[in-house]
Amino acid sequence: DLSGIDVRAEIERLRKERNAVILAHYYQRPELQDLADFVGDSLELSRKAAETDADVIAFCGVKFMADTAKILSPNKIVVLPDINAGCSLEDSCPPEKFKAFREAHPDHIALTYINCSTEVKALSDIIVTSSSAETILQQIPADQKIIFGPDRHLGGYLSRKFNREMLLWPGVCIVHEAFSETELLKLKAQHPGAPIAAHPECPPHIVDHADYVGSTSGILQYAATIPQDTLIVATEPHIIHQMQLSIPNKTFIGAPGADGNCNCNICPYMALNTLEKLYVALRDLTPRVEIEEPLRLAAKKSLDRMLEMAS
Ligand code: 13P
Ligand code: SF4
Repeated sequence: DLSGIDVRAEIERLRKERNAVILAHYYQRPELQDLADFVGDSLELSRKAAETDADVIAFCGVKFMADTAKILSPNKIVVLPDINAGCSLEDSCPPEKFKAFREAHPDHIALTYINCSTEVKALSDIIVTSSSAETILQQIPADQKIIFGPDRHLGGYLSRKFNREMLLWPGVCIVHEAFSETELLKLKAQHPGAPIAAHPECPPHIVDHADYVGSTSGILQYAATIPQDTLIVATEPHIIHQMQLSIPNKTFIGAPGADGNCNCNICPYMALNTLEKLYVALRDLTPRVEIEEPLRLAAKKSLDRMLEMAS
């Protein structure tokens, strides 16, 4: 029972006492974004996790992100406010099936989206995030055959954009899959001048209507540069909080799902983290992310390749 406890004040006290850094993804609840030391996209958060000199990383994001922090910073304590904060893309790609798929295609390298388990990272050659995928793909020789997993929409988008055939793993993000083309077109008709920005995890029937396609940080940068005063945002709607903070004079509208509003596109995994759970995580230093050393070293290889190739 946390009644009577000033959770925010306690988080402030514990963050100093524990020498903790609080990292938050753009899809986190606004109150978590606001108190984080750093808010970013998947690549930026990985870099922060690798660089920090804090003793504790409190990761407000999902499990694969906290795992990534632990892979890159094994000597730090990494806590995730809710250990059940998973990801539909990770769930879609069980390591033993991925291993069998790789073995069936021995002449292919595995270029793998960071939204996957540590085991799948260990079975991969190069990890990508949505902000690093294009740069990395362009460095891979044209005759090299590629397996791309687990997001078939990001893979399909890259494949179309660079005219490059890839074997796609059939995973999807349940959040980006939920946007409705019909409702998006209705919204566009109501705001005729407003451009659409979409995350590449969206299916083609959404991405094809977008004026800009990119990662969360890419969409934020785009929002700051457009001349129009309204933007339709086809990604998880909590990113709009960050847009309203940095660009207060513009209007941002979340792209709708089939019910006509954007609330069905809130990521249910990201939403599991709360202020109260962050407080408990800093107080008890649990739930903690732990990874066996041989697995960590195997997964680190493909992540290090990303960090080298993305810069
Ligand atoms: P980025 O922040 O890298 O665009 O990733 C989006 C995402 O789906 C995180 O779960
Ligand atoms: Fe996974 Fe999609 Fe949620 Fe990101 S938004 S954590 S890809 S389910």
